Amino acid sequence: MPSLSPKSAKLQQSPIRKLAPLAREAEARGTGVIYLNIGQPDMPTPPEMIAELHGLALNRLAYAPSEGLLESREAWSAFFASWGIDYSPDEILVTAGASEAITFVLSVVAGGGDEVLVFEPCYTNYLSFAAQADVRMIPITLRVEDGYHFADVERLRGCVTPKTRAILLCNPSNPTGTVYTESELQAVAQVASEHDLFVICDEVYREFVFGSGEVRSFTRFTDLAERIIVVDSVSKRFNACGVRIGCMATKNREVLDVTLRFCQARLSVATAEQLMVVPMLRDGRAYSERLCVEYEGRRDAVFNGLGVIDGVTPHRSEGAFYTMTRLPIQSCEDFAAWLLRDFVHNGETICLAPGEGFYVTPGLGIDEVRIAFMYDVPTMTRAMKILDAAVGTYPGRLAAVAATSSF
Ligand SMILES: Cc1ncc(COP(=O)(O)O)c(C=O)c1O
Repeated sequence: MPSLSPKSAKLQQSPIRKLAPLAREAEARGTGVIYLNIGQPDMPTPPEMIAELHGLALNRLAYAPSEGLLESREAWSAFFASWGIDYSPDEILVTAGASEAITFVLSVVAGGGDEVLVFEPCYTNYLSFAAQADVRMIPITLRVEDGYHFADVERLRGCVTPKTRAILLCNPSNPTGTVYTESELQAVAQVASEHDLFVICDEVYREFVFGSGEVRSFTRFTDLAERIIVVDSVSKRFNACGVRIGCMATKNREVLDVTLRFCQARLSVATAEQLMVVPMLRDGRAYSERLCVEYEGRRDAVFNGLGVIDGVTPHRSEGAFYTMTRLPIQSCEDFAAWLLRDFVHNGETICLAPGEGFYVTPGLGIDEVRIAFMYDVPTMTRAMKILDAAVGTYPGRLAAVAATSSF
């Protein structure tokens, strides 16, 4: 049998989905499973969006233009404007989710083993996107003790090499829920200008900022406009992961032109889906603000629930709809499997995402898990009680109350 490509070997199995077979077996045994492992919003897609789909007067589903339908790009432009961000329709390319946008953009700005800086823990698919683009992800490791903030510009500067082409910034962050501070964003801006780098801004959770926190798009650094490439998506903010609509936007004409060639090679993005999201893009700010309030309540339930678990110092996430936390457990991967295979609490168990898969650096995150807030407050509260009971029972629990650091 012929062997597969070296690139194939670099694509990792999704750490978020790999426990799925065990979860299915638990359900088959009659155990209820609360899925804390996946960022698939539980709330309904807005009825306006579904109504728009049903009402579309389409009698011929031809290829859409590769850059996206004008109606769709105009709607994205209006959406950005509603958050004070200035991109005209001709500075926007519609993509199949943010995933396609990131994959294309990485290939446009880097390749041939070039380096892109990323804060870890990071969105796990970045590693697969980078492998496809032949890009090396260089991690700047953040620690739970610091709330996954980095604060110091030197940490960033120290990772730049002659091969560095860009910084990939996810703000608010999946998986940590960190919202970067003004000074951290300035540090990113400073290093990008000093070293002539692009900044790829993954802002798919932009408006999910809790409490009195400000929604701070990196696009505010208008003096860096030519370096900034924003990737965005309707998936999370409109509970519409399945429509697969996102975009990239930039003021950099060369980046736009070359990304368009990638878009042309894949021909187009689905016509009906581009159109069905138009009303929400034009008028969806209040909707996503309501979602944010709901996620904040869930964050509180998780934070409070983690706080009573012996040996856990919970991390209070500031945005998105995730938190990472360290558990007093040697291997969270084994623990997550045990939860599904061997543990039941009042007829239920939980499915966690082990932390290791969110790190670029091998060996980090083995005692951490990511928790997604994809159930209502009572269910999230119950899930934390199940976690508490499980940590107390687990044979692999660390003896010392304070969990060891993975650093
Ligand atoms: C940080 C981040 N970026 C990008 C994506 C991909 O989003 P999309 O569904 O638009 O492809 C996700 C999905 O979970 C994400 O969490």
